[in-house]
Amino acid sequence: MRGGEIVLDSEILKADVTIRRGRVSALSAPGSASSEGVPVFDADGALVLPGGVDVHTHVGLPFGEFSTLDDFASASRAAAQGGTTTFLEFAIPTPDETPMAAVQRRMRQSEGVSHVDFGFHGCVARCADHESLEDVARLARMGVTSVKVFTAYRGIVMLELGDVRAVMEAAVRHGCMVMVHAETESLVERSIHDLRSEGLSHARYQARARPAEAELDAARSVLGLARVTGCPTYLVHVTLPEVADALAQARSQGVEAFGESCPHYLLLDESCYSSARPELFVCSPPLRPGAAAAALWSYLGHELIGVHSDHCCFNGAQKSQYAEDLTRIPPGVPGIETRLPLMLSEALNGRIGLTSLVEFCSSKPARLFGIPLKGSLLPGYDGDLLIVDPEGENEITGGLHMSTDFSPFQGRRLRGRIHTVVARGRVLIKDGEWTGLPAGGRFLKRRTFAAPADEQK
Ligand code: URP
Ligand code: ZN
Ligand code: ZN
Repeated sequence: MRGGEIVLDSEILKADVTIRRGRVSALSAPGSASSEGVPVFDADGALVLPGGVDVHTHVGLPFGEFSTLDDFASASRAAAQGGTTTFLEFAIPTPDETPMAAVQRRMRQSEGVSHVDFGFHGCVARCADHESLEDVARLARMGVTSVKVFTAYRGIVMLELGDVRAVMEAAVRHGCMVMVHAETESLVERSIHDLRSEGLSHARYQARARPAEAELDAARSVLGLARVTGCPTYLVHVTLPEVADALAQARSQGVEAFGESCPHYLLLDESCYSSARPELFVCSPPLRPGAAAAALWSYLGHELIGVHSDHCCFNGAQKSQYAEDLTRIPPGVPGIETRLPLMLSEALNGRIGLTSLVEFCSSKPARLFGIPLKGSLLPGYDGDLLIVDPEGENEITGGLHMSTDFSPFQGRRLRGRIHTVVARGRVLIKDGEWTGLPAGGRFLKRRTFAAPADEQK
């Protein structure tokens, strides 16, 4: 790759990038890269970024009577179209599965079909029985070094706090991080009960159904358990500055506490529930007031390590089937393809720096989750990159390449156009077009937890 500005999380440099055998073999003076044996891309005037890393996706997720409509082939292709070349997917056990069986099923589903590299988070759902806790150790040995728990979704995946504590004790023994969906279910249930008694069950009441205090209460409880157990703890989809403050407070007490947010919590707000189709924006936690969304930005790169999609490919018909009963609407929005372009656009508009974009969407998550060789373009790292025309523009239409027909960001104009995407040296997208290479994504065995150097206290 010749010309162009290489964006790392620490600096931007003018250099050529050479990729050999799937890895960056050299960064050299502009115009110096040899074309011998490798295709050369002219990146003059372009930005070159490390491939995106999305650590929060739900591919083919069953939820109640619905399932998200994608699989590893379509989701990984959509990821690549949006510049994401690594994703970490949840292996949520069905009621009769152990966490290990769930990971093995997800391995079979992904084998040979993913276009980009991927890994898994284990999950302990419903109860933390002896076998599930033993699986935490077995999964860690396989390179599945994070475990998800839910304090919400009673009867589906929810764990009681005692069980969360048991998972944390097992995780810390085996070098894993626990990821938490933090909402106190009983507070959500009470709100839904009260709304129902007033006849207010439509999707437009989603924000009131899952109030801020439910997220804050659960966050404080699990961070308390993290302190007691010493377990590295990561709060998924943080929507509130108060939760980020709770993370800051836990960190000041020596807790390894981290969080993430998502483009929809940063760029949308609860006014979407007053739109013509509020059900399309139903997610848990819900979208919050605009002031909360605006305030979250200042925590990025600190308490909120990264921005991830929480990708859920339900389509409009699935979301609308029970629009009048918010408890039956499958929660979540599609986003594996739009996460990085949305954040890129914000960077090009000056809201965050380009180096911060790389940090939030690629490098820091790769380090925190122990993903080897991802998140940078320094020599030795995987040859995963995207080339961006910073003068280009885009509009989000339909579900793009995701297996759905809508985006919560429908109609949004974006600055910057990703025209080339390379995954371990393989060109997946050229001039904006899918090249049609066969699937070449590999399972990523991750390291056990070690606080990233810049996060050490
Ligand atoms: O609404 C959401 N977030 N759906 C996906 C499942 C989860 O809670 O992450
Ligand atoms: Zn969740
Ligand atoms: Zn999720």
